[in-house]
Amino acid sequence: MAPSRHFLMCRPEFFAVEYAINPWMDPAAGADAATAVRQWERLKDAYEELGHQVSLIDPVDGLPDMVFAANGALVVGGRVYGARFATAERAAEGPAYLEWFERNGYATRLAATETNEGEGDFLTLDEVILAGTGFRTAVAAHQEAQEFLGRPVVTLRLTDPRYYHLDTALFPLDGRNVAYYPGAFSAGSREVLRRMFPDAVLASAEDAAVLGLNAVSDGENVVVNMEAGELALELKRRGLNVIPVDLSELRKAGGGPKCCTLEIRP
Ligand code: ARG
Repeated sequence: MAPSRHFLMCRPEFFAVEYAINPWMDPAAGADAATAVRQWERLKDAYEELGHQVSLIDPVDGLPDMVFAANGALVVGGRVYGARFATAERAAEGPAYLEWFERNGYATRLAATETNEGEGDFLTLDEVILAGTGFRTAVAAHQEAQEFLGRPVVTLRLTDPRYYHLDTALFPLDGRNVAYYPGAFSAGSREVLRRMFPDAVLASAEDAAVLGLNAVSDGENVVVNMEAGELALELKRRGLNVIPVDLSELRKAGGGPKCCTLEIRP
């Protein structure tokens, strides 16, 4: 079994699509909180069946996107780098998540000065943290996180508005390798990824378009949106155990499994 991970999640009791801050969101079409809760419970069960620990933060009425816990902070080596959201609609989530960490005994915290959306734009590998910019998180936040966490941070530029967070276009397979959709990145960032990860899994436009890259891997098991068929085959070919999940209701807000999952790294 892969070493146990610790995840923070937020039950989507108040989930809704009532504003549009990314191209996936259509307030006229809306979304159903009860369906979202049912799908989310299956995701949580999947983690627990894999032996991972799940902690919960209370959802807040009026914060419909709070289910996307990945955006709440970045936690590496027990140090908590707080989120500072790019949009007014989600601004109150930053303090709410930081307060959870305070209440749960995480003493080393930083309330960010720079705009950043937590693990949505920061993905942690063994030696380096990959950081997205272009839509939500500022490059200045990459520097702030590097200084606070003492880990090298590599800036990657996102160029397609459908892939507005790094975690919608790339996920770590383990501590050393990644899967990504090249079409989401600038030419220079594609070149950086090619050099850093010559053996990466390259995903198709089709698998990206179902948020297949918004996956969570523990190095042995990958929890991934069920519609990402080609990607699932390639992951299996590489010896990974694929656990497909249906998060179609949450995708109406532009989120998938990883968006719902904030990893607490001790
Ligand atoms: N509606 C949310 C937003 O646009 C979705 C966030 C998805 N989270 C993520 N880690 N990609 O901010």
